[in-house]
Amino acid sequence: MRLGINIDHIATIREARGCGEPDPAWAVPYCEIAGADGITVHLREDRRHIKERDLVILKSVVSTRLNLEMALNDEIVDIAEKLCPDQVTIVPEKRQELTTEGGLNVCANKEKLEKVVKRFRQKGIEVALFIDPESAQVRAAKEVSADAIELHTGAYSNANDSERYYELKKLSDMAELACDMGIEIHAGHGLNYFNTGDVVKIKKISELNIGHSIISRAVFVGMENAVRQMKQLIDDHDR
Ligand code: PXP
Repeated sequence: MRLGINIDHIATIREARGCGEPDPAWAVPYCEIAGADGITVHLREDRRHIKERDLVILKSVVSTRLNLEMALNDEIVDIAEKLCPDQVTIVPEKRQELTTEGGLNVCANKEKLEKVVKRFRQKGIEVALFIDPESAQVRAAKEVSADAIELHTGAYSNANDSERYYELKKLSDMAELACDMGIEIHAGHGLNYFNTGDVVKIKKISELNIGHSIISRAVFVGMENAVRQMKQLIDDHDR
């Protein structure tokens, strides 16, 4: 199971002071030395953390895989096409949200998504769609020819003890369905050092994208240790 590190919050710290540090690119070698399989960033429409300048630098310093999270927005699609990351993950976006809330409604955006997937494909960019674990959305992702889905693990992460098994089962069932359809399965959102182990046991999931919990731990133990600890946790459960 691959681990992508979402480094948006390095840029959040920079933007808190509106100065040049810390630069998200500085995190890349620490993540990669510690075993990260990829680097993920979200270019939001309001540019609240990651900026176009960051993308250009990251494209040249990332030696694993660069995954760009982005909304289905014409301007951002153009930027992504020019940047040519290894992968894009298309997410829904609302201006006022603190973080991505809910998955993309693929069923309601099939026509637009089909065109965008085709454009990215022509550039050799893999396309993942960030969706809630619902069968209609998985089927729609297949219909628009996405390479992968990223299952939104927010409901699982926020679940109380009595809801947790049900949310985990939904993730597992949707991973099975997507696998039967020949789509790759990623997962992410709200995963941390306590709740990731059970998700790792869903064998059909091939990639996790984790940001907030790793950056939070890095404040105390350093970026390299924080990534190494998550990588170890994944390896321990991926047997
Ligand atoms: N995957 C997607 C599609 C996201 O939008 C985010 C948040 O930017 C993440 C994963 C990482 O979530 P978290 O920061 O809660 O680990």
